[in-house]
Amino acid sequence: MNKITVKASQSYDVIIGSGILQDADRYIPDVLKSRRTVIVSDDNVYPLYGEKLKNTLTAAGFEVYEFVFPHGEQSKSHETLLNLYGFLAASNITRSDSIIALGGGVTGDLAGFAAASFLRGIDYVQIPTSLLAQIDSSVGGKTAVDIPAGKNLVGAFKQPRLVLADTDTLSTLPEAFFDDGMGEAVKYGMIWSEKLFELIAAGNIKEHLEEMIVECVDIKREVVETDEFDKGLRMILNFGHTLGHSIEKTQNFCGLSHGKAVAAGMYLITRAAEKHGIIADNISDRLKACLDVNRLPSSVDITPETLFANSVNDKKRFSDDINIIICKTIGKADIVKMPVSEYRKLITEG
Ligand code: GLY
Repeated sequence: MNKITVKASQSYDVIIGSGILQDADRYIPDVLKSRRTVIVSDDNVYPLYGEKLKNTLTAAGFEVYEFVFPHGEQSKSHETLLNLYGFLAASNITRSDSIIALGGGVTGDLAGFAAASFLRGIDYVQIPTSLLAQIDSSVGGKTAVDIPAGKNLVGAFKQPRLVLADTDTLSTLPEAFFDDGMGEAVKYGMIWSEKLFELIAAGNIKEHLEEMIVECVDIKREVVETDEFDKGLRMILNFGHTLGHSIEKTQNFCGLSHGKAVAAGMYLITRAAEKHGIIADNISDRLKACLDVNRLPSSVDITPETLFANSVNDKKRFSDDINIIICKTIGKADIVKMPVSEYRKLITEG
């Protein structure tokens, strides 16, 4: 078992290891004000772990309700959120009570935003069950729902009271979802740690899974502690995301999944930066080899012009400039602010 303490506006522990979920009653009661909670989960994850968690907490003296919604990104919507608010109200959830998010990134973002906004804020615990959620989205307090104009456009910063990452839950994860999480893991290696990058590039990551998760969470801890509200350093976590979001949008969110789109986005921006002489030549080849060995894409069938056009309304854009994250060496990211016209040349020429 590993414990990482995130010292943000609200401090909390991230517990990582095998079998953590069955010990939920050891960790959860200490961080919550009351013994009433709502488990929020989707219809894929709740049948696997929900009843067990409910029974464990009930045995520990909790009154437990469950809100289960249809799985998938389309549920990260105002419609589901309104249903959840209604459920919380009907269950007489008060400011002392809490939410437990049990599932992947969609569940964590949705439940976290409900916790940030219901009664102007109640406590919540993250129990991430996907690789992507364990290494990235459950830590750092970004919560959101999607609106028709774009993904994650309505949200809040709200740190959880606790994160329980049980690595055993990854054994039920379909391979495609596992690979998706690996896209974000490669990102952590690229932006912060060459050692982590090499561990992932070696190609037998399932033998080092816990080590990798701990390393990614510890990097995220350091970034979030430095810049909780995403005004500076935290932007490096968006490496690969500007083009990644463009890929997802161009494919109407029905093509590459998020982590895979980020993988292709990391490669495309790195290769473009090499071609334009911004970085040294050998980085994109090393990145591509790492992506290949982890079954992640490095190309997409989208024209550079479309990739550019669909990336410039990204949240990282400020007026006529855009912030692009570039890794000049493996293990170190820079935030490069450039005019949109220059960014266009970077993506479409060369
Ligand atoms: N997933 C990016 C961030 O938490 O800032």
